[in-house]
Amino acid sequence: MLNLQIPHATTVSALRARIRSWRDDRLSIGFVPTMGALHDGHISLVRLAKAHCDRVVASVFVNPRQFAEGEDLDAYPRTMLEDSEKLTLARCDLIFLPDVAEMYPEGYSANISMQGAAVGLESVARPHFFDGVATVVAKLFNQVRPDMAFFGEKDYQQLLVIRQMVRDLNFGIDIIGGETMRERDGLAMSSRNVYLSADDRVRAARLNVILKEFAAALNAGMPADQAQKAAMASAAAAFDAVDYVEARCAATLEELPSGPIDRDARVLAAVRLGSTRLIDNMAAKRPS
Ligand code: PAJ
Repeated sequence: MLNLQIPHATTVSALRARIRSWRDDRLSIGFVPTMGALHDGHISLVRLAKAHCDRVVASVFVNPRQFAEGEDLDAYPRTMLEDSEKLTLARCDLIFLPDVAEMYPEGYSANISMQGAAVGLESVARPHFFDGVATVVAKLFNQVRPDMAFFGEKDYQQLLVIRQMVRDLNFGIDIIGGETMRERDGLAMSSRNVYLSADDRVRAARLNVILKEFAAALNAGMPADQAQKAAMASAAAAFDAVDYVEARCAATLEELPSGPIDRDARVLAAVRLGSTRLIDNMAAKRPS
């Protein structure tokens, strides 16, 4: 039995029992889904949720359905005691900690399959990823039934996929995006940064610089294809492999025409350092 400092539930029925009393008192409920190994990025979402809602539920569940064969499911960092301390400090009201059998009992068969914003970028290297994410988030939404749910812009494509799922399936939940929290050298915080060797940790900071330069070039009116080529060359020189470095429409993630950007855009990248995959993204504004 975990000795956690804040109220927690490990089953859907216990979760619902806690939430029912808040609903009876007409309190609004904010929800922050996570896979644990919490850092300041996650905690910033809990704080954002506290600012918007009367009560905040965070879930910690390492969702097997969004990991492919050969990915880091078993190695994924699990730090429940530290996580609960951080959530306590951020004044989270309840942690939901289901195990795999609670989420996917024997005979489980449903799957949510997303197109639209889920096509391309992350899906190229991880074809089943967004179905896994959409499915678990849909389940969590039905379990918690929050008024608002909070997702990081760090995973920008994920944020848009969740918005689209909520729209398409009429969940009636407000999806709020939180800005990306970064280390001092600009590296976006990630639970997976602990995998980086000391040398690779230093190299990793280049990703933020390359995306900043890419966004600045677009902001200054450089044609998108030219800016992208330059960013790609910088990334190829800095990292062991580059999955993508692209500018897309910020609202839909559709591809952009090759000239200067004519709408708000987002530059997004995924690169590899050894076996660690880093992703990051940034806004680029249509020049006025
Ligand atoms: P996880 O990677 O644990 O991230 C949980 C939430 O924290 C996501 O909304 C993510 O975008 C946000 N986040 C991660 N790093 C951040 C940073 N540096 N700054 C701000 N927010 C950050 O994303 C997932 O888990 C899972 O796919 C999940 C949605 C929980 C479904 O299993």
